[in-house]
Amino acid sequence: MLWKKPTELTHEYIIRKAEPSDASGIISCMQSVMDEKVYLVGEYYMLTERAEQERIKSLDDLTLVAVLDRKVVGVLTVQRGIYRKNKHTASLGIAIMAGHRHKGIGTRMIKQAIEWCEDQGIKKLNLEVFSTNVNAINAYKKIGFEIEGFRKKQFLIEGEYVDDVLMTYYVDPSLKDPQ
Ligand SMILES: CC(C)(COP(=O)(O)OP(=O)(O)OC[C@H]1O[C@@H](n2cnc3c(N)ncnc32)[C@H](O)[C@@H]1OP(=O)(O)O)[C@@H](O)C(=O)NCCC(=O)NCCS
Repeated sequence: MLWKKPTELTHEYIIRKAEPSDASGIISCMQSVMDEKVYLVGEYYMLTERAEQERIKSLDDLTLVAVLDRKVVGVLTVQRGIYRKNKHTASLGIAIMAGHRHKGIGTRMIKQAIEWCEDQGIKKLNLEVFSTNVNAINAYKKIGFEIEGFRKKQFLIEGEYVDDVLMTYYVDPSLKDPQ
């Protein structure tokens, strides 16, 4: 299922690794979530289609797409730390387009990303989320992410200060502090 390439209309969500030919679909999906203004820090997707194709080819990182009838409706990225001191960690980002949320896609994508991290020897998967994004925080907690800390009033969104919530998933549970 994960690596199946949709060659025809399936009317079902397929989750798979991104290919360079997904670049424009990924950009459209990301931009539509950015246009909502309330979930992601960036307001414009910064990479050109060509640069996005190159990013997808990177072996150190993972990009998953959720595809419905050949349209990219969800994007997940995992970026591994680039230094010897943080190579055991990675950062996760995810965006599902409006109209396709709360159908279990985000959870499936994140669980597949965790499996990839296990295979890669990544021990700790981090993410950042706005404190106002309660649905996302609940989704992450259900998967097993825990809150590590807050950066208070880190963002100003529609006139309100919002905290940055730092969350992590211990891919290697032996790293967890004893309870
Ligand atoms: C946050 C996000 C990745 C979750 O993915 P999803 O596919 O919508 O979530 P799932 O269907 O896997 O739901 C998992 C849990 O999340 C919570 N949740 C997700 N969407 C919700 C909604 N609209 N209302 C209430 N709870 C919701 C629920 O706790 C849900 O568990 P449940 O199904 O047992 O109720 C997705 O909604 C999204 O991309 N949102 C917009 C962009 C964004 O917020 N990105 C993350 C920035 S850090």
